[in-house]
Amino acid sequence: MLEAVQKAGAKHMVGFNYRFVPAIRLIRNLIDEGRLGRIYHFRAMYLQEWILPHYGTPKIWRLSKDVAGSGALGDLGAHIIDLAHYLVGDFKSISGLTKTFIQERDKEDGSGTGIVDVDDTFAAAMEFENGATGTLECSRFAAGRKNANNFEINGEKGSIRFNLERMNELEVFWVGEDPKETEGWHQVLVTEGYHPWWENWWPHGHIIGWEHTFVHEITHLLDAIVNDKPVGPHGATFEDGYRCNVVMDAIAESSASGRRVDVQY
Ligand SMILES: NC(=O)c1ccc[n+]([C@@H]2O[C@H](COP(=O)([O-])OP(=O)(O)OC[C@H]3O[C@@H](n4cnc5c(N)ncnc54)[C@H](O)[C@@H]3O)[C@@H](O)[C@H]2O)c1
Repeated sequence: MLEAVQKAGAKHMVGFNYRFVPAIRLIRNLIDEGRLGRIYHFRAMYLQEWILPHYGTPKIWRLSKDVAGSGALGDLGAHIIDLAHYLVGDFKSISGLTKTFIQERDKEDGSGTGIVDVDDTFAAAMEFENGATGTLECSRFAAGRKNANNFEINGEKGSIRFNLERMNELEVFWVGEDPKETEGWHQVLVTEGYHPWWENWWPHGHIIGWEHTFVHEITHLLDAIVNDKPVGPHGATFEDGYRCNVVMDAIAESSASGRRVDVQY
């Protein structure tokens, strides 16, 4: 697909909508401005619970390798791998572990059972080209986690935490900037006119939701087409999609071989 769009000279974008959460775009801006300094860690978890035994989830398309490609890795992991690329940079090497807890589920049409041949969960530890280290963990077996896309970045000048279930907010900690007695994490409401994408929305503090990320995403693509602007670095291109797949393949390869894998894009 990447080769085809390059040959055609077309604009191309992958729907990694979390890049279009204003708070996440703000994190990228803060990193670009050097506010975190050198980045040491990127720690992400994207957790759901909907295929726990209690819910009796049948063998839907998301549990078939030939249709879905992989399980939690491709469904949830792709998003946080893309965010790791967007916020921190290229991966150097990775080790991964995938696991399928329930191998057989009832078919949707009631005609017996089918084999689940995708991962129910994965965990990975990686090193970035810039020397930062990180971890990724995704599961659809995490009781109580509905759509918990969380990450934390630790830099030399501060740390930032994001939680999709509080998507209008960021938590930030600045090293040595607060008076000692009141030093701590600050909660920032990312809903003001001077925040990314907010020139198009509501007055102070009138929050937005998940669907607005798609409005931003499509606006970005249309703007790139109509006004001949680049889709990257803030929109994910097919190149970014390809790179995400390289990392997912490396995690699967590492899990199968039991060895750490060099990431070669
Ligand atoms: N953040 C994100 O970007 C994000 C989040 C959720 C889902 N997704 C993606 O959105 C897509 C849909 O996910 P979902 O959870 O809604 O899946 P789903 O299984 O709930 O819904 C898929 C729908 O497509 C219909 N369908 C299947 N084959 C069809 C065909 N040939 N023609 C017309 N309709 C057909 C099915 O009947 C079903 O209603 C997937 O590709 C998924 O990966 C992306």
